Amino acid sequence: MNEATPTIRNLALVGFMGTGKSTVGHHVADDLRFTFLDTDELLEKRANKSIARIFAEDGEPVFRQLESDLVRDLESRTNCVIATGGGLIVNPANLASLKKHALVICLWASPEAIWQRTRHQSHRPLLNGPDPLATIRTLLAAREPYYRQADVLVNTEYRGLREVTHQIIHHFHQSQGHPHTRH
Ligand code: S3P
Repeated sequence: MNEATPTIRNLALVGFMGTGKSTVGHHVADDLRFTFLDTDELLEKRANKSIARIFAEDGEPVFRQLESDLVRDLESRTNCVIATGGGLIVNPANLASLKKHALVICLWASPEAIWQRTRHQSHRPLLNGPDPLATIRTLLAAREPYYRQADVLVNTEYRGLREVTHQIIHHFHQSQGHPHTRH
């Protein structure tokens, strides 16, 4: 008997900067024995320069176009955990593209928690202004309606890495029709 290729072959992590997509994504990928992909990393390799340089030299619209091109190229992948840049699904076409093949999970945290997690990092051009907390509040509020369109919303604020990882794996197994898997 031919087994049909399941539509949901991958897991995509979306959500605001600093919600832990890469850290959690690595753990989920290890547990599922999936390949871990990070759209920011792939994009930097393609462009052969850092995100900060793309923003500074080419501007955000060029970055967003590169992001959209990349997302389209991921549609053929199988057995991957894909961590996405925080603004990627603000373009509805990108979310639609991910939903063709992946269970889309949004990691959530409050502006204050995000600020605590990102305040000592400097690689995100959007948070390098004079008042990052205010920027986080404004951007997160503007993006919330998009994040809410993910298949599952996971609040990471009061949960450890292990619990968040297990919760995501549980949701993925459910999407594959195995509701009673160990977690
Ligand atoms: C961005 C988030 C970043 C990166 C770029 C823009 C955003 O990714 O794609 O700096 O618009 O939220 P992370 O969410 O991985 O930090």
